Amino acid sequence: MAGLFITMEGGEGVGKSTQLVRLAARLRALRGDAVLVTREPGGTPGAEAIRQLMLHGGHDFAPLTDTLLVYAARAEHVRLLRAQVQSGGLVLCDRFFDSTLAYQGYGLGVDRGLIATLRREIAMEPDLTLILDAPPAITQARRAARSIDDRYERFDAAFAARVAAGFRAIAAAEPQRCVLIDASGAPEHVADLIARALEERLGVAC
Ligand SMILES: Nc1ncnc2c1ncn2[C@@H]1O[C@H](COP(=O)(O)OP(=O)(O)OP(=O)(O)O)[C@@H](O)[C@H]1O
Ligand SMILES: [Mg+2]
Repeated sequence: MAGLFITMEGGEGVGKSTQLVRLAARLRALRGDAVLVTREPGGTPGAEAIRQLMLHGGHDFAPLTDTLLVYAARAEHVRLLRAQVQSGGLVLCDRFFDSTLAYQGYGLGVDRGLIATLRREIAMEPDLTLILDAPPAITQARRAARSIDDRYERFDAAFAARVAAGFRAIAAAEPQRCVLIDASGAPEHVADLIARALEERLGVAC
């Protein structure tokens, strides 16, 4: 099989990490060791250091600062991702450039043209992007079920709604790359929807 780059996107608590673990297990059974599961911001020591600074450094960075920091981390991370895909491996990434557009662009009003320019400069496009979507009542309940406290967790419901709308707009604008997945059901059901998307879009049965 050729190398593949798949990204998992969506708002907080929608179930991205849960589904990434499940999908990785299914794909590892198919492809052996050649599955890299990673996340953004982060994924390399330098990029993880930027993540730590952003989320837990105690700074109240401006939205533009976060945009540039997350792209700085991405510039490091894609060196690893590119090498993995070029050697025929499969990459599953928990958040990628759509999160920057949804959070900093749609959520916080950073210029979307600037974000698009940074995306072009990175020049690494996913083969498939799974965008998980669920109603606010469901994501709020899931977020309450776990206890993570980082800067973005503290934003309010209106911000979460702008981010979710941003993700839906991205899915509508790039239907050839993105699949909007209804993540409101049980984990097994969402996993089946994701498996179907991989089969339909990439011809990968899992
Ligand atoms: N389909 C589901 N049904 C019910 N609960 C779920 C489902 N998917 C995930 N959960 C639970 O919801 C919580 C959030 O899930 P998860 O951590 O996977 O979300 P996430 O999108 O990765 O969140 P974050 O953006 O904060 O990383 C967890 O407690 C998880 O066990
Ligand atoms: Mg997660």
